[in-house]
Amino acid sequence: MAEVTAHDPGPTDGRSFVVLGVSAGIAAYKAVEVCRRLVDAGVHVAPVLTERATNFVGRATFDALGSEPTQTSVWDEDSPIPHTRLGQRADLVVVAPATADLLARYAAGLADDLLTTTLVATAAPVIVCPAMHTEMWEHPSVRANLATLTGRGVAVVPPEEGRLAGGDVGSGRMAEPETIVAAVLARLADDRAGPAGDLSGVRLLVSAGGTREAIDPVRFITNRSSGKQGHAVAAAARRRGADVVLVTTSAQPRPAGVEVVEVETAAQMEEAVLARSAGVDVVVMAAAVADFRPKVAVDSKLHKSDGVPELVLEATNDILAELGRRRRPGQVLVGFAAETDDVPGRARAKLVAKGVDLMVANDVSAPQVGFDHDTNAVTVFGADGTVSTVALAAKAEVADALIDRIVTLLRAPS
Ligand code: CTP
Repeated sequence: MAEVTAHDPGPTDGRSFVVLGVSAGIAAYKAVEVCRRLVDAGVHVAPVLTERATNFVGRATFDALGSEPTQTSVWDEDSPIPHTRLGQRADLVVVAPATADLLARYAAGLADDLLTTTLVATAAPVIVCPAMHTEMWEHPSVRANLATLTGRGVAVVPPEEGRLAGGDVGSGRMAEPETIVAAVLARLADDRAGPAGDLSGVRLLVSAGGTREAIDPVRFITNRSSGKQGHAVAAAARRRGADVVLVTTSAQPRPAGVEVVEVETAAQMEEAVLARSAGVDVVVMAAAVADFRPKVAVDSKLHKSDGVPELVLEATNDILAELGRRRRPGQVLVGFAAETDDVPGRARAKLVAKGVDLMVANDVSAPQVGFDHDTNAVTVFGADGTVSTVALAAKAEVADALIDRIVTLLRAPS
């Protein structure tokens, strides 16, 4: 029988084992609430603080609220061997707050304290909850580190706008504890349910979000797409066993286990999608790709004193139509059509023009449907003439209904 060390809680009575990592940011005080809520929800919480995080919140607070004593160092235990124990044992690791420094160390694979060692030693899903000043949050190095991590399947609960340390206001404030706890519990529930598996072995690429086309360094043309529906398709496909690549312009949370490619413009989305399309079985173009972009993006900011600029636009390439031309036998192509009038007519016309199997149409003039809502209502038109509708439902449910249609097509003899 394995020896039970001072920090080994022994069996967790079937409860999920979550490592709550806390790095050194003022938002560490909110991690106390995350800890309490997770324990209240029946989760076994092992708090791991970085040494410097203890300058913000004392170990005693987490000792009192967590399910086992707080640890900060690989030397906390008699033998340093258990430095990988937490990572190996965890069902999930959540880092809240994740500072710029923590993200950099994690992205680089450093294992210079117990928290980073745990992150590097774990095969469990990881959720990071960044918190930092706006300038740091927007810094290219932080963006690059996050892109590296999301590319490895790390999920992100993005920060929100609000008051920051020192009284500044901006984006970078850690998400609220209830949002973080909901993300953790949802992931644990998904893992317990296990992937339904009907997309097991299927490679699926999904695009999401509205593209941004630069006018000058500070201005761009975009649209109202939030990326929520595309991210929901990525999460649902992953849950059902697919290997998923998500090409996105959106800052929506990254679903765990999904490879994420961040893009901004229609041209970047085109490059990212076409480079990968030959290697996948399904492409879902949920992105709202700009149809036009400024012919010239000016290098330096346009000023009022220069007069009203004359915007000359040029057409972008139609990615979905190109996918239709390149399609290989058996590949399933899905498009989205956000319309405000004659939804069936326009959707059917696009289905044919772009040469796709399914066109998912929604009437974005209806309440609670489409852009930026958490709900959607769609009609799915098939090239084979089949039509199915999903009444107003959470975007996650719409995603599952769409995947049901995709599964049927994949199983159909070609
Ligand atoms: N699409 C694309 N590349 C573009 C424009 C659109 O791949 N340059 C894809 C979208 O991702 C979506 C589908 O085509 O899956 C339909 O997009 P939509 O904007 O509704 O159609 P358009 O062809 O742009 O037609 P219109 O603007 O006339 O409605």
